[in-house]
Amino acid sequence: MTDQFTFRVLATDGKARRGEISMPRGTVRTPAFMPVGTAGTVKAMYLDQVRDLGSDIILGNTYHLMLRPGAERMARLGGLHEFARWPHPILTDSGGFQVMSLAQLRKLTEKGVTFKSHVDGAAYEMTPERSIEIQGLLDSDIQMQLDECVALPAEPSEIERAMELSLRWAERCKTAFGQQPGKAMFGIVQGGDIGSLRERSASALKAMDLKGYAVGGLAVGEPQAVMLDMLDVTCPVLPADKPRYLMGVGTPDDIVKSVMRGVDMFDCVMPTRAGRHGLAYTRRGKINLRNARHAEDHRPLDEESDCPASRDYSRAYLHHLVRSQEALAGMLLTWNNLAYYQSLMQGIRDAISQARMDDFAAETSERWARGDL
Ligand code: GUN
Repeated sequence: MTDQFTFRVLATDGKARRGEISMPRGTVRTPAFMPVGTAGTVKAMYLDQVRDLGSDIILGNTYHLMLRPGAERMARLGGLHEFARWPHPILTDSGGFQVMSLAQLRKLTEKGVTFKSHVDGAAYEMTPERSIEIQGLLDSDIQMQLDECVALPAEPSEIERAMELSLRWAERCKTAFGQQPGKAMFGIVQGGDIGSLRERSASALKAMDLKGYAVGGLAVGEPQAVMLDMLDVTCPVLPADKPRYLMGVGTPDDIVKSVMRGVDMFDCVMPTRAGRHGLAYTRRGKINLRNARHAEDHRPLDEESDCPASRDYSRAYLHHLVRSQEALAGMLLTWNNLAYYQSLMQGIRDAISQARMDDFAAETSERWARGDL
């Protein structure tokens, strides 16, 4: 049977790749940025807007949705796509990372992790099998293995233990997922900031012949140079014909540099969260709208943007909304930020097709450095 989940590389420029992941619910143009829709909503945005900005796929979180509204309830309601009215592809994170950062009274064993909900204190057990079962109940198109991500800095023995556990959980997730044409389960490379562990993790996952591979455990407290070093050792080990997803990353600069090391997919709360905190990402850099210097600035965030939030509202108005804690502040700034991120991704894809990724990266960072806000 031919799988309806496919990845094609359409063009390369150095290690950067432009491609297409196709699945029954749609095609994802890569390199792709996936807006974070943790609880079935990309906060402060209508999903129609998210789509119109060029998002082919969004991310959902197993952890949040299993607690509320609950996985079985979500299935009875027709799955996450139907519930949130997003008929396009959805990738779900497995829950391990969120359990470790959000849940209370966590206990991790070989079998899985038990924890108490941060919402109401109820007890839960998350195993690799249950994580895949929940992601199935949500009807997620790209499901992630359950893994353990350690915050850096950490002891090498601790990093190795978590990496080996994550490999055993990858096998269990693979078995639990079975054969699902049109859907995928991705493994997650761990290994902290230790190159030899990253290589071991990546080659063991490669041997499992999964449909895609994530790189996890990065942007967890280490300098950017360490993250890029880890990509330099990991990406060459991963198969060239499968998508590579760098989890939880990052700034526009992180994204450009990671694409140049062979990464195809990204997700990050940065554009959405920063938008709700009065920060705007633009072609020329980051603007803090809370700052008094914007109080009488007539200029929009970016007069050349196609996005109304970026083009049509004065910085003075945005400053006023932020200072007044108006809901519209978060809505307009999130809209601007996602517009910027998706235009950056389109710029990256075009640059790869035209074999001018080096120039694109240089021009982009030169514009950020110039400030010129
Ligand atoms: N999100 C950001 N980093 C990670 C990671 O290492 N694992 C998982 N599951 N999700 C992440």
